[in-house]
Amino acid sequence: MLTSAIFLLATGLLGISPSEAKSPKSISVSAATASREAGPLTASSNTLTLTRKQSPKGYNARSAAYLLGLAKIPPSDHTTTLLSLFIGEEFATQITFGTETFESIVDTGSSDTWIVETGFSCINVSNSAPETEAFCDFGPTYNVTDTFTQIPDENFNITYGDGEFLTGIIGTEEVTLAGITVKQTVALVNLAAWEGDGTTSGLIGLAYPALTSAYAGTNPHADNSAAGEQIVYSPIFDTIVTDGKSSDLFSLAILRDVSGPSGYLSFGGLPPVTFTENFTSTPILITTITGYPVTYDFYTINIDSVLLHGKPLPGSGGPGIQYIVDSGTTLNYFPTSAADAFNAAFDPPAVYNADEGVYIVACNASKPALDIVIAGTKFDTNPLDLILLAGTDANGNDQCISGVADGGSDPGSDVYILGDTFQKNVVIVFDVGAAVLRFAPHEHYVSNDPF
Ligand SMILES: *[C@@H]1O[C@H](CO)[C@@H](O)[C@H](O)[C@H]1NC(C)=O
Ligand SMILES: *[C@@H]1O[C@H](CO)[C@@H](O)[C@H](O)[C@H]1NC(C)=O
Ligand SMILES: *[C@@H]1O[C@H](CO)[C@@H](O)[C@H](O)[C@H]1NC(C)=O
Ligand SMILES: *[C@@H]1O[C@H](CO)[C@@H](O)[C@H](O)[C@H]1NC(C)=O
Ligand SMILES: *[C@@H]1O[C@H](CO)[C@@H](O)[C@H](O)[C@H]1NC(C)=O
Repeated sequence: MLTSAIFLLATGLLGISPSEAKSPKSISVSAATASREAGPLTASSNTLTLTRKQSPKGYNARSAAYLLGLAKIPPSDHTTTLLSLFIGEEFATQITFGTETFESIVDTGSSDTWIVETGFSCINVSNSAPETEAFCDFGPTYNVTDTFTQIPDENFNITYGDGEFLTGIIGTEEVTLAGITVKQTVALVNLAAWEGDGTTSGLIGLAYPALTSAYAGTNPHADNSAAGEQIVYSPIFDTIVTDGKSSDLFSLAILRDVSGPSGYLSFGGLPPVTFTENFTSTPILITTITGYPVTYDFYTINIDSVLLHGKPLPGSGGPGIQYIVDSGTTLNYFPTSAADAFNAAFDPPAVYNADEGVYIVACNASKPALDIVIAGTKFDTNPLDLILLAGTDANGNDQCISGVADGGSDPGSDVYILGDTFQKNVVIVFDVGAAVLRFAPHEHYVSNDPF
């Protein structure tokens, strides 16, 4: 099951093509230029605690990318090398719909806020055969409340890179998040091809309006992304800002495995973590990756380069190469040459496994030094983030994967991602109003990580 929402562009699942991307002119935070200067940052008074989720089934907890890199992994072919593949982790928090509170996945790579509705139909992702609700493995389901109002003649339809998909209805509901209540356009899912984690019931999408997935009409089968039927609406963070409930930035701190919260999402200010308060800013870019709306959609940036042992990897950065900062993606996805060079530098080297779509590495390999240079500032990656326990082999031995994956070799259409491998090392301010992302290094902290 995938958690984040970078859509599979190769099959046009995004729902809007560049030419038909609607510009949400009325929504201040998606203005094509900064609406203000980047200002001083203060502690947020609206902070959510994040909880790390892994599949209780012990495999493929959830890698949140709806992206090409992960889509390369055959959905049902995880057994060739590993008995179980833990490729993902996701971060969830509490959200209230009307009077009912749920755990939902936090995703900076998609824009819809959805919840699964009581009585939904579950189907098998692989063959679309009907399954029991339990098969989809959601947490509690939402019962329509008095404060929900369906929007007539619209439907919800989203497909993820691994083939999982959801359809449902669109409406407005009183939604409470971090102590902030707004009347929000939400999707109620009544058909799901999903592999859940047993506790989360939906998703909170924090990206731009251009990625919302509402369509005209009541029949999802009739949705035609090519015909520009996608209806752009105000995602939850836009609504919060438009209603004056937060200033137009939020921040995210994803923590390595430590006791306590797995991270924080804070509206209007900084999260309650220690970090070096020296932010580096870089503009949020209009995405030019083929297949995505040529507008503000994801949190897309340029980096200067990826450093291996302090030396820039050719072709890893610069103006022609866009990276998406996606909380729902576990690994970093680099251009092929950089991913290969980095992974060859483990000792013993990590080896690309086409079946799994990741580099397999000895759990006790020695780790190369990885830095990401953004706007002239070098951000170290803690070695603890470079090798992930992925599962066990037939003999019960631990199997590990590299924190760096191959995002493909065509910067024009491939999607490169700064995922949790990178994000665990920084506090990120999504300064939407100033149209910049601001990064500050975490203080280095240790954990009980066995590697
Ligand atoms: C789902 O479909 C796949 C492919 O046909 C099949 O292998 C798998 O057993 C199905 N799952 C269940 C629970 O029936
Ligand atoms: C929805 O209603 C069912 C049946 O009354 C109840 O068991 C369940 O707890 C309700 N769900 C929520 C999230 O309140
Ligand atoms: C969702 O929309 C696509 C077109 O974009 C359509 O082909 C597909 O059938 C729809 N999904 C469902 C489950 O109806
Ligand atoms: C790493 O683990 C392998 C077994 O998986 C073992 O053979 C090897 O000696 C270990 N290397 C080091 C440096 O500990
Ligand atoms: C803050 O960052 C700048 C450039 O990013 C760097 O030159 C400076 O040394 C940093 N200051 C501290 C106190 O870390």
